[in-house]
Amino acid sequence: MGTAAVLTGLGAHLPPRRVTNADLAERLDTSDEWIASRTGIRERRWADPGVSTGDLATEAGLRALKSAGLGDDARIDLVVLATTTPDHPCPATAPEVASRIGLVDAAAYDLAAVCSGFVYALEAASNAIRAGRAANALVIGAETYSTILDHTDRTTAVIFGDGAGAAVLRAGDDTEPGALTGFDLGSDGTRRDCITVPAGGSRQRAAGGEPAEADRYFQMRGKEVFTAAVAHMTASARAAAARAGWPLGTVAHVVGHQANLRILRAVGEQLGLDPGTVVSNLDRVGNTSAASIPLALADAAAAGRFAAGDRVLLTAFGGGFTWGAAALTWPDLAAVTTDERSPIR
Ligand code: UT7
Repeated sequence: MGTAAVLTGLGAHLPPRRVTNADLAERLDTSDEWIASRTGIRERRWADPGVSTGDLATEAGLRALKSAGLGDDARIDLVVLATTTPDHPCPATAPEVASRIGLVDAAAYDLAAVCSGFVYALEAASNAIRAGRAANALVIGAETYSTILDHTDRTTAVIFGDGAGAAVLRAGDDTEPGALTGFDLGSDGTRRDCITVPAGGSRQRAAGGEPAEADRYFQMRGKEVFTAAVAHMTASARAAAARAGWPLGTVAHVVGHQANLRILRAVGEQLGLDPGTVVSNLDRVGNTSAASIPLALADAAAAGRFAAGDRVLLTAFGGGFTWGAAALTWPDLAAVTTDERSPIR
């Protein structure tokens, strides 16, 4: 027995505007058939003009607190917001989100690990809890990729969606349902150019001059990313399961970063797991980067797919490159909602 961070609440928020593959095919040289067969994606949500990552994060955070049974007077020690699309280059988005949620004096920071961000943030919050530095934490993954996409580039514009998911963690015991008991994280910065927004940071600003228009937007070398994603998501999932002491055959669900259905299936296969263990909701939301794992968890939980005590492996891969995995024993969670028909408003 030992101290562990325990999941006690889960919330999700999707902006209401649905963008289907057919909508994209009206203005890009693409088709529903190509997008669905190559990625598994059928539609995604894009935030309306004026809606920021912090707006989505605030909604998801409020829902997570409600799911954890915490009210307006909730006291949370730590807020970690994983995002690639912060509201501003400076300051971080997390302090503003914490204040809007009503969390006074909480430590709050952003964490940038692209699509692995939520797993990185879970690990950071879990460490703070295990060290006794925080009694509880709110971990949020939130993105508005629609603001960094080149909407004329069919190789990326069809893949990404906007959304936010959030989890409440508290200090508990590593034997109880909800416990996070094994983590694995890694990176390889030599592959940084495979997923990048080249302009807008100090590298480009220090060089001076105006960046090329395309460099202001998200760029990805899809094929290279695909191969690396399968390899690292599989290896990281194995490492996290081993740290938790879980034989892979005891894993009930694999919740991978929702980048591509073919990636998720390949990871499940390479882990030697039944196809039914692979959780996917990307047909409805696309790739939502740091938001994708909590959104997939929330969807599966809302559908009643998980039972308390089930062993759930989370595994992610993203720009950097970064990757990470976590072993989570499913808790007895209150109902979670993932769409605009929230009980909150
Ligand atoms: O979130 C971080 C992690 N991200 C990922 O893991 C993404 C990993 N990569 C992927 O999911 C896939 O590589 C993509 C979905 C991005 C691309 O699928 P692919 O099977 O690797 O396609 P491809 O890039 O090899 O392109 C095949 C063809 C190309 O045409 P040619 O050269 O064969 O004539 C592309 O130009 O498909 C073309 N193409 C498209 N056609 C219609 C690329 N995008 C589109 C499109 N519609 N949207």
